[in-house]
Amino acid sequence: MKIAFYDSGLGGLSVLRVFIDKLKQISLNEDIELIYIADTLRAPYGSKSVSDLKSYVYEFADFASNQQVDYFVSACNTSSNLFPELELGKYSFETFNLYSAMKNYFLQEETQSHNYLYLATEANINSQKYLDWGVNIVPVACPKLVPLIEASKYDEAFNIMESEYISENITSDETQIILGCTHYALLKNHFKESKKNIIDPAEILFESFATKTSISSREISNGESSNLNNIKCSYYSSGLSSALTVAITSFIVSLDT
Ligand code: DGL
Repeated sequence: MKIAFYDSGLGGLSVLRVFIDKLKQISLNEDIELIYIADTLRAPYGSKSVSDLKSYVYEFADFASNQQVDYFVSACNTSSNLFPELELGKYSFETFNLYSAMKNYFLQEETQSHNYLYLATEANINSQKYLDWGVNIVPVACPKLVPLIEASKYDEAFNIMESEYISENITSDETQIILGCTHYALLKNHFKESKKNIIDPAEILFESFATKTSISSREISNGESSNLNNIKCSYYSSGLSSALTVAITSFIVSLDT
């Protein structure tokens, strides 16, 4: 099985991480090849137009198709919003994206009674696609975060996320905070000590991937043995960035833990 992921930069590594962590727990009887594409040259996407974003996705789709992938995963919330309008039918791969996974998630009755704070890029919030989900969402654009995260300034990004984007907009302890940009999900561990309710859409995306590909029906290993040996990752980038190199290197190192 071959799966391609793309994002504007290093944010989509948070999605790749979720997939690897989950796939490691499944008894796999086949090799899994994961391809990660980082569009570092053109990041951030949060300030890009719809037509630019669409053309980028088509480029990655062509690239993924040339690599003969079985699945094409958008690890970028901002461009995931455009998937319902994109024409990807000519490709032989199946597509998955965060926007549609979240839409399905909110069809479940138990998700509908909560209040959500949706932290996302400007382009994502301006698109108002989150309105399609039909739940009570307070949208918050967080333009300062992606440039900081792309520069590996994780602590600074987290402090700003807390002080400027969450504290100012959250109305109750019960509010569920959706990390609606895959870059923000790289800060997920920073929330470990806090009592906040955090939703990482990548977890929901994996669930829909596992269901549609019937992976979920396979045996889950007991957690002792991981199947990392069956999983191979390749990384591609449109531009050189030392932060991306550092992020990918520490990402690879952390896979063994
Ligand atoms: N990480 C992407 C997202 O989930 C894009 C962020 C950006 O480049 O502005 O929206």
